[in-house]
Amino acid sequence: MNINVILSPPEIDLLPQADLTGTTCVVFDVLRATSSIITALANGAAEVHPVRTIEEALALKQRFPDAVLGGERFGDRIDGFDIGNSPLEYRALAGKRIITTTTNGTIALRACEKAERVLVGALLNLDALVAELAASSPENLAIICAGTFRELALEDVLAAGAICAKLPGTALSDSAMVALDVFKQHQRDLPGALRASRNGQALSAAGRDLDVQWCAQTSICDTIGQMQAGIITKSASLEGIAS
Ligand code: MLT
Repeated sequence: MNINVILSPPEIDLLPQADLTGTTCVVFDVLRATSSIITALANGAAEVHPVRTIEEALALKQRFPDAVLGGERFGDRIDGFDIGNSPLEYRALAGKRIITTTTNGTIALRACEKAERVLVGALLNLDALVAELAASSPENLAIICAGTFRELALEDVLAAGAICAKLPGTALSDSAMVALDVFKQHQRDLPGALRASRNGQALSAAGRDLDVQWCAQTSICDTIGQMQAGIITKSASLEGIAS
């Protein structure tokens, strides 16, 4: 397996034109979009539609009037939407169809849609992801770090490095080696690293410490979220998640 890590949004912009044949993409927006999606699926949400813009979200809502509208801009709930982007809000949506648009996470997910397979990554489901990747053994694995606005986000790079660490015997690109080194440096205290990151501090300053704590939990569920034709569903789940 060849592992490449896409470290930041300017590289994500190039993905729609990239050749992703034979490639599995795992998308991480640890704080908070992909953690919220995994939380929703682990708690029984039926499906999640990640979209790029508020307009697309509103158009989909017309098509699916019962759907829950979620997402954020500048971290806050979008006017008129049902919920924001806190993973804590995504715990009580069993059976629901969710439409979400966020600044980076949903953009990164949709940028990968030509890949053979697109999986949703979080620390919450880390071991399950590793087991899934080891079993499916794709020829190429691209780990996508969704970042913050136009910049790299430490928490996403840590998660990418954790995957590299847990899949030995793979061929790492230089960016994957960087992610692995960053993970090794912080692996003893991932929650501390998340708190110290730019996003962790911004969320904390906004009174959202509990979101950071939630997203920092490692391997508390076995949920695999897979996106097909723009819709994320649970592809395998052995257990639920603590609520
Ligand atoms: C994003 O997609 O940019 C984020 O998840 C931002 C956030 O709500 O923390």
